[in-house]
Amino acid sequence: MTSEIEYNAKLDEARSYIMEQVPSLPELGIILGSGLGAFADLVENKVTIGYQDIPHFPISTVEGHAGQLVFGKVKGRSLVVMQGRFHYYEGYTMQEVTFPIRVMQVLGVKGLIVTNAAGGINPDFQAGDLILIKDHLNLMGENPLRGPNLAKLGPRFPDLSEAYNSEWRQKALALMPDYEIRPQEGVYAGMSGPSYETPAEIRYSRSIGADMVGMSTVPEVIVANHGGMKVLGISCVTNMAAGILPQKLSHGEVMETAERVGKKFVNFVEGLMKV
Ligand code: 6GU
Repeated sequence: MTSEIEYNAKLDEARSYIMEQVPSLPELGIILGSGLGAFADLVENKVTIGYQDIPHFPISTVEGHAGQLVFGKVKGRSLVVMQGRFHYYEGYTMQEVTFPIRVMQVLGVKGLIVTNAAGGINPDFQAGDLILIKDHLNLMGENPLRGPNLAKLGPRFPDLSEAYNSEWRQKALALMPDYEIRPQEGVYAGMSGPSYETPAEIRYSRSIGADMVGMSTVPEVIVANHGGMKVLGISCVTNMAAGILPQKLSHGEVMETAERVGKKFVNFVEGLMKV
């Protein structure tokens, strides 16, 4: 465990390095999940910084993820876009997974849009649906805030009763029909992965209130809330979870659906920049 002083020094170095490269600081952060990578192409006056160049940033290992921060503007909003995220299942610690969120925080980011690919549990959902996250279940077996509290960054016992900002959710829901998206919300259950769940684990998740399930998002959202950010979350249901349909799960299906829905997803997130 890194000491508080050490951690603050690391954040300072990452922030200083970034501030030397970018002309204006971002107000909003966006984490691009599978299929959403093309959103980065919309960014104007772009400054791109590879994760490998940012002091103390972990290095992205999953293929199909560029592993870079993209700074610039979309629809007049100053953004920092994470193209590629760090997953707990890759072996990163929770502190590593959420380091980029802390960097955003010290850069002055006040709001975060988190996107992901998820398995559908709620039988009203189908592959290809975009679902607004209304709340989450942390079933990852860990919490990124465990350990000494970084008092400069947030409170010891942060409130998560509105982890996904309700005003932003209402605005996003109202916008969905304009993009031919059914306005649906759900509770996201975060799992450590990398194995998909068993049918029994999915029945259990359903019984405790989960509508979709995935392997990301929860750590980032906890840390963003700790840091005082407003959060909006969107899941792309890439497949139904185990035992919901009489078929096996495959990463291929996840990537295929994410690809298929990508354009609609990108357009919707672009639309959110105007609200
Ligand atoms: Cl079914 N489970 C988890 N944990 N993550 C997923 C998924 C399922 N489908 C896409 N991502």
